[in-house]
Amino acid sequence: MIIAHTIEDVRTRVKQARAEGKRIGFVPTMGYLHDGHLSLVEISKQQSDFQVMSIFVNRIQFNDKKDFESYPREHERDFALAKSAGVHLMFLPEEEEMYCNQHTFVEMESLTEHLCGATRPGHFRGVCTVVSKLFNIVQPDVAVFGRKDIQQAIIIEKMVKDLNFPLRIIIAPTIREEGGLAMSSRNKHLSPSERIRALSIYRGLLAAKSLIESGNRDVRTIIAAAQSNIESSRPEKIDYIELVSYETLAPINIMNQRAILAIAAFFGTTRLIDNMLIEKNGEHYSCVL
Ligand code: PAF
Repeated sequence: MIIAHTIEDVRTRVKQARAEGKRIGFVPTMGYLHDGHLSLVEISKQQSDFQVMSIFVNRIQFNDKKDFESYPREHERDFALAKSAGVHLMFLPEEEEMYCNQHTFVEMESLTEHLCGATRPGHFRGVCTVVSKLFNIVQPDVAVFGRKDIQQAIIIEKMVKDLNFPLRIIIAPTIREEGGLAMSSRNKHLSPSERIRALSIYRGLLAAKSLIESGNRDVRTIIAAAQSNIESSRPEKIDYIELVSYETLAPINIMNQRAILAIAAFFGTTRLIDNMLIEKNGEHYSCVL
């Protein structure tokens, strides 16, 4: 695995791979890799020949300085995992090169107004800006994002369409730990007891799934079922439990379309997010966690 620290080095290596007729796959990350990230590489490998991963803890997408500073960083461990997963080129941008007197930012309307966009001001401006820069540097044919961050994945898909980036976005399934906790680099911060309490997010989603799949269409009842499960494990704070349209990410009152049940809650000082995709097939709904 080649490790590149400069934009120029990445461009040279990718150009070389492309000259050899290879399709470029890209998995952008903030590091502290887990099986969720490695599953994104697996999916990328099915669609491309040369795997690029980036690790960059992107300061401008953090609305909380402490969260940025405490974000777990362990490069040697990440390199070993990425290499064994089949990454060919690891890009570790330097902050000074990425944000050298930057005056241009990518801002998206409407889809960013809800869920994490409402609770983390400026977050998606930071994500869209860094992902645009990374796409322009790496110039991949495909890029893979996890469904755990479903709002991010939908926003990036839309940005790629709106700004005519010549690449395809793949949204990959959520990978869960035993017990159902969605894998996240932030799980590292959970104490053993917080980790047990955090399983209530998954139980909340399962309770909602069972209601929806047995024919309940009342959004308030569905949300209440998820909420009572989560509240029973005494989260420090619930940022949101919302049932939103897949198309607009705006809350809906009645189940009549493809939708998402999305949750963000704090256990201890750790903010966790998770969601469930609600697929509509005619009059029948099925839920994917
Ligand atoms: O999902 C993440 O890890 C980050 O938001 C991303 C896409 C790498 C941009 O910094």
